[in-house]
Amino acid sequence: MPSADIGLIGLAVMGSNLALNIAEKGYTIAVHNRTAAKIDEFVANAGELRGRIIGKADLAEFIQAIKRPRSVIIMVKAGKPVDEMIEQLLPHLEAGDAILECGNSLHTDTNRRFAYLQTKGIGYLGVGVSGGEEGARHGPSIMVGGSKQQWHNAEPVLTAISAKFNGEPCVAYLGEGGAGHFVKTIHNGIEYGDMQMIAEVYGVMRDGLGMNPLAASEVFKAWNKGPLNSYLIEITGHVLAAVDPQSGKPLVELILDKAGQKGTGVWSAIAAQQLGVPATAIEGAVAARSISSRKDERVAAEAVYGKRAGGRSDVTLANLEKALLAGKIVSYAQGFAVMAQASSENGWGLPLATIAKIWRAGCIIRSRFLDQMSAAYAKGDNTNLLMVPDFVMLMKDAHPALRKVVAAGAVGEFPLICLSAALSYFDSYRQGLGTANLIQGQRDFFGAHGFEIEGRGADQHGKWPSTLGG
Ligand code: 6PG
Repeated sequence: MPSADIGLIGLAVMGSNLALNIAEKGYTIAVHNRTAAKIDEFVANAGELRGRIIGKADLAEFIQAIKRPRSVIIMVKAGKPVDEMIEQLLPHLEAGDAILECGNSLHTDTNRRFAYLQTKGIGYLGVGVSGGEEGARHGPSIMVGGSKQQWHNAEPVLTAISAKFNGEPCVAYLGEGGAGHFVKTIHNGIEYGDMQMIAEVYGVMRDGLGMNPLAASEVFKAWNKGPLNSYLIEITGHVLAAVDPQSGKPLVELILDKAGQKGTGVWSAIAAQQLGVPATAIEGAVAARSISSRKDERVAAEAVYGKRAGGRSDVTLANLEKALLAGKIVSYAQGFAVMAQASSENGWGLPLATIAKIWRAGCIIRSRFLDQMSAAYAKGDNTNLLMVPDFVMLMKDAHPALRKVVAAGAVGEFPLICLSAALSYFDSYRQGLGTANLIQGQRDFFGAHGFEIEGRGADQHGKWPSTLGG
């Protein structure tokens, strides 16, 4: 007699924590792992939750232990391992069952798998799960895409384990195919932007204002009580305050300035480019990680060009706080615009206000800002946050500070790749008369690509000289 409400394959950190979260909410869960020893170890260490966990080393027995229609979570490495797991599962599954893939997968892979499994009568859900280890264990934000019917089967469990914001569960069905994984990818792109802008502001504090990590930590802790209140600002306060027990020095000063990345930031930037939606703050954040990893090249270039010459900066902490807010508005405006475009091209019908809502708790970018944003989006269907009335007011108030900080960066020689990209986007976005008229002239000159003249229509051409003087 099958007795498990749901199954889970992949007992690495995220999978184990999700399984414990599910068991803790009163559901019986069957678990399986490629390395069988891990299953026994996991069950043995599950404490009082052990009674609701069924460990099965044999895949067929694992499937048989789950009540029909089955929901099987797979939490394995993105890419080929997911396809391999699907193939292994298929002979054991029956029509109406579903696979819930909860890793960070590329949404186009999820689209492909969704379509493939549809032909077999098996549901496929691409589920974005944010919140790291802690989130998985105690309440992540969950972004679901794929087979709607099977979503309804899994909905009670996913709702029970999700984070709650003022009692509202941070989980939603967002659309067919890869919609959930796409939204998770953009969540991560925005996460890159938030982290990079915070790091840039820390750079101004350190190099321009001569602040030590502890002093900077105090400022971030104070900011966490204001409009920037968020998980990332909070952890920044803690990271800056940490002391290395071995040397007694601030830990942050010992950590090498080379940031890693696993790919979702790059996917966000590629998606934005492919969709033709400018997402310069996110792209800047991704580029900044790549520059960071080229440490040797940076050190060599510093030897050639010299260390920054700029003296003490005259920006204030209040300028920095507002600049971060303005940068954040732009970065979120870009991320949401990318989602809006992807939604219309894929026919997903992504609910932007709901996405802002389910990001208010559990995920890495959770913040007070997202609560304001979901409320603002709920009032209308503007897709660019820069045109949403409440945010127009915030931006009008904050962009002069962003301008001051970016100007101080240019003069004082601090790299502000993300903040300056955000400012330039804002200035381009609100510039009624741009400069692409000249680009069109150039394109017509060398390639007869044509241009438009108001009142005369498109496909106009200039009479350009056929030979150029020396
Ligand atoms: C989350 C995180 C999670 C992971 C990132 C880190 O939402 O819980 O975003 O998915 O920490 O993938 O990505 P990088 O290694 O690329 O920084």
